[in-house]
Amino acid sequence: MSITVLVGSQWGDEGKGKIVDILSEKFDIVARYQGGANAGHTVEIGDKQYILHLIPSGILRKDVTCVIGNGVVVDPNALLTEIKFLEENNISVEGRLFISHNAHLIMPYHKLLDSIGESGDRKIGTTGRGIGPCYMDKFARKGIRLVDLLKEDVLRKKIRENLEEKNALLKKVYNHDTLDVEEIINEYIQFDKAIDSYVTDVPSMLNKAIDDGKYILLEGAQGALLDVDHGTYPYVTSSSPTSGGASTGTGIPPNKITSIFGIVKAYTTRVGQGPFPTELTDSDGEKLREVGAEYGATTGRPRRCGWFDAFLVRYSAMINGVDSVAITKLDVLSAFEKIKVCVGYKIEGKEVNTFPSDVDTLSDVTPVYETVDGWLEDISECRSYKNLPEKTKNYLDFMSDKANIKIDIVSVGPKRDQTFFIN
Ligand code: GDP
Ligand code: IMO
Ligand code: MG
Repeated sequence: MSITVLVGSQWGDEGKGKIVDILSEKFDIVARYQGGANAGHTVEIGDKQYILHLIPSGILRKDVTCVIGNGVVVDPNALLTEIKFLEENNISVEGRLFISHNAHLIMPYHKLLDSIGESGDRKIGTTGRGIGPCYMDKFARKGIRLVDLLKEDVLRKKIRENLEEKNALLKKVYNHDTLDVEEIINEYIQFDKAIDSYVTDVPSMLNKAIDDGKYILLEGAQGALLDVDHGTYPYVTSSSPTSGGASTGTGIPPNKITSIFGIVKAYTTRVGQGPFPTELTDSDGEKLREVGAEYGATTGRPRRCGWFDAFLVRYSAMINGVDSVAITKLDVLSAFEKIKVCVGYKIEGKEVNTFPSDVDTLSDVTPVYETVDGWLEDISECRSYKNLPEKTKNYLDFMSDKANIKIDIVSVGPKRDQTFFIN
């Protein structure tokens, strides 16, 4: 039995999509457990690039069943657009895509409130996909779930009740135009027909699959430092990308999970606001962005770039319980003669022992760097650990030691074959 959780170890965009695609060859089911269409998971196969937002990256392998768990917030428009995109590329989802009836629906007012929230002083730099407001309604016990689409009278009642409140908020607090109740009801009634065949009892389905000896990969979106509990709050997303979220987000009990696999970028990136101790605002940062093509897969925003932060990944590996990791984008570092790695933080000259939990403290830390030699050699054609330059091996050893991670996979380019296992 293998029930593996795959998590992003930094601030997202570590290359989860690529590694899920590689690993899913050995899995029967790939399930997403949190987040929504804020994710952008890129997979390159041959000349074709696929960017998946809601549907697990396992969908690109024809014999893999894909599941969207209850922990995900589903934007029906985004879902249908993605299904259409896949079908236009001859990838059928029929009979192999299942969505939890307990997953919450992103409503038009969630996206509107997300964008209004971002226009003020308390900007997070969200993706604008309505994620925060949808999870707010979920936890306020006002959300509308996929199961509600099945009963028209229930759906009407819930949309009416929600809109009464949201329209008052829009008008009185934000001085904004209100939304039309009937228009939204009519739009969402249509979704029932389009989505009904995918909706199922996911916990029962997954637990039966486990009993039948199936292999399940649980695909996290975002990354540990964007976790609402363990990340750089409030500059986080509104869900639990860390491994603990995989259980609540799918209905697979924690004691059925057999391993946790982390995805670690060979340097660090972040999109949106919030502290970033190793951020480079100089020409090295620019070089990482250009060589690494660091532009958001969902919003196209330039990603902030910086050196590898081993202190942060050590913390991330601890809260996720990471057993082993894939190092991605190692090829990008070929462009540097000297590479810095952050091995700790100092505040007022004193070494910090644990990862700071408040953003003001984190904004004040001074990273402690060690410098290692770059290899200045193209490694994108390397297909085994033993063929890597000695200096590249040294860098991997250094990362592994300082971040306390065991490296199982190395990725040296965006394509499927630019990957190898160590051991
Ligand atoms: P995700 O959100 O974690 O799935 O990551 P994204 O897809 O948002 O961003 C990762 C980007 O890096 C994508 O454009 C990938 O095609 C690309 N990528 C993944 N692995 C590698 C790698 O090893 N080297 C290079 N150069 N690019 C990679
Ligand atoms: P993947 O799965 C990187 C960031 C946003 C913002 C914060 C909150 O591709 O790694 P939200 O829209 O979730 O309310 O935005 O989280 N963010 C991501 N950053 N990769 C992602 O997903 C992200 N999803 C959200 O930029 O800072
Ligand atoms: Mg991404």
